[in-house]
Amino acid sequence: MKITEQERDAVYKTIYNRRDTRAEFKSDPVPDDVLKRILEAAHHAPSVGFMQPWDFIVIRNSKVKQSIKDGFELAHREAAEMFDKERREKYRSFKLEGIMEAPLGICVTCDRSRTGDVVIGRTANPEMDLYSSVCAVQNLWLAARAENLGLGWVSIIHHQALKEILAIPEHITPVAYLCIGYVSHFHDQPELEKAGWLPRVPLDSLVHYEQWSKH
Ligand SMILES: Cc1cc2nc3c(=O)[nH]c(=O)nc-3n(C[C@H](O)[C@H](O)[C@H](O)COP(=O)(O)O)c2cc1C
Repeated sequence: MKITEQERDAVYKTIYNRRDTRAEFKSDPVPDDVLKRILEAAHHAPSVGFMQPWDFIVIRNSKVKQSIKDGFELAHREAAEMFDKERREKYRSFKLEGIMEAPLGICVTCDRSRTGDVVIGRTANPEMDLYSSVCAVQNLWLAARAENLGLGWVSIIHHQALKEILAIPEHITPVAYLCIGYVSHFHDQPELEKAGWLPRVPLDSLVHYEQWSKH
């Protein structure tokens, strides 16, 4: 199957216009068929040895969301102390989650024991299963964008807290907590870039030829 030029352009448009969403969520519900499509897209991510180590916990209940938010608040307070004084104030001024505002939360996990101990492609580098679940997150993120849904990744929460709140079994690793919903608008640039926190690094400085030091 050949991808047409127009389809190619749609993929790049989706990639370049994907944003991490925090403050722009609207309360409109996400229809079940749309949710199904983005979950199917996530489930079609590549995975090491085709182990498909992910599960998806869909959260709509505001009490559960509130517990997640409490977990965020704790980790966020801890995080603020880690920055030097000047950056701390700026860090505190950022909105870094939309847990309560987003109509949907999805926790993506990794079952590192799925399909047994020896997995094709995970033998030399055991973390490949975690990377696979991250691939599922990225598929979900891009599919959400193609559906005009915003998605925000909330990593400022201890995984142990996520496990307790969501009753995740001991042997399962939480990978991501995602806030999803329709949005008032998408930013045209990463918010951290706009706020002068960090610039986008020029691609040329990141591409090496044959060996690390050769640009
Ligand atoms: C692994 C990962 C964890 C992230 N965690 C958070 C987070 O806890 N809170 C937040 O506001 N953004 C989070 N982000 C979003 C990044 O800040 C964002 O992707 C980056 O600033 C670039 O902006 P863009 O995604 O809008 O292009 C996370 C992104 C990734 C990939």
